[in-house]
Amino acid sequence: MFARSALSSAKVAVLGAAGGIGQPLSLLCKLSPYIDTLSCYDVVGTPGVAADLSHCPTKSHTTGSLPDAGAGSWPEGSEGGLKAALEGADVVVIPAGVPRKPGMTRDDLFNTNASIVKTLVEGCAEHCPDAVLAIISNPVNSTVPIAAEVLKAKGVYNPKKVCGVTTLDVCRANTFLAAHMGKDPSDVDVTVIGGHAGITILPLLSQTGATMTDEEREALTVRIQFGGDEVVQAKAGAGSATLSMAYAGYLFTENVLKAKAGEKDIVMPAYVESGITEAEFFASPCRFGPDGVEEVLGYGELSDYEQGWFDKMLPDLKAQIQKGKDFAAN
Ligand code: NAI
Repeated sequence: MFARSALSSAKVAVLGAAGGIGQPLSLLCKLSPYIDTLSCYDVVGTPGVAADLSHCPTKSHTTGSLPDAGAGSWPEGSEGGLKAALEGADVVVIPAGVPRKPGMTRDDLFNTNASIVKTLVEGCAEHCPDAVLAIISNPVNSTVPIAAEVLKAKGVYNPKKVCGVTTLDVCRANTFLAAHMGKDPSDVDVTVIGGHAGITILPLLSQTGATMTDEEREALTVRIQFGGDEVVQAKAGAGSATLSMAYAGYLFTENVLKAKAGEKDIVMPAYVESGITEAEFFASPCRFGPDGVEEVLGYGELSDYEQGWFDKMLPDLKAQIQKGKDFAAN
């Protein structure tokens, strides 16, 4: 059982809270029994988002901050600024940055989002060095290594507390496989490993016990790897996944908070510093505890088909990790 006192003292900061993901994610956080203080930070719009959310009759206190302390924060007259948004945060969720348009890869976002993530993580190093960082901003394969390097440079890096959020890949895998099997998605649990971009996303369908032809396996695997593109195309220039990502981002946050509150056996995927493959960062199931990632778990046997994808993926993933590290170094 978890301790009530720990439950009622959690502060979550959402950076990029006025965006397509940030707003529904903040709403889910506002509804959460695990969150006591919700701080919404963005370069625009957060006083309005926070005022709006604050009318939901739940226990958490909501604040809205803009970069300038004191300028237009909510509640009126509150301190505002990144420092106030971050101080005392247990979890910082980062969906700040630009999303994809049709025809773009996640790596095309690198130039803009790398510096946004770097600046925000520098703030975390200064104001909440003990918080768990949940990084959603793409390309996750590179933004997580950037965050790690920034924290290392500031002398506060804790690999247990820097996570890329790959939960949406698992949500998609469970949804698509459940449809194939005629099952309820909540009865399906696919392990997805690797990273969070195209072929670096590897669902281990062989471990689910589902029967499928070679063609069905190929179609399902590729659909999970490129599931984000379905949404980008359907939104036709208006962005990428926001609602399903808000759900996935909340699920991740809630599990981090449950583990922090002492709940046992919290296992979920995360893209973290990892020694289980040649890639320095890798997404696999992780056991979470009160201090973040307690243990990076293995992922079991790969079928020959999956090993083929794994071998193709690894050079790509390593290159994207190096790109993030090089950016942080310069
Ligand atoms: P959006 O453009 O709707 O919202 C982004 C927000 O970030 C905006 O409100 C913007 O003002 C804010 N922002 C920009 N610079 C900032 C800064 N320096 N400080 C604070 N806030 C800042 O974009 P959306 O759709 O919410 O996507 C956000 C990111 O999430 C994108 O990089 C997207 O690729 C990524 N994403 C990641 C997924 C994953 O599975 N990890 C899935 C879907 C999207």
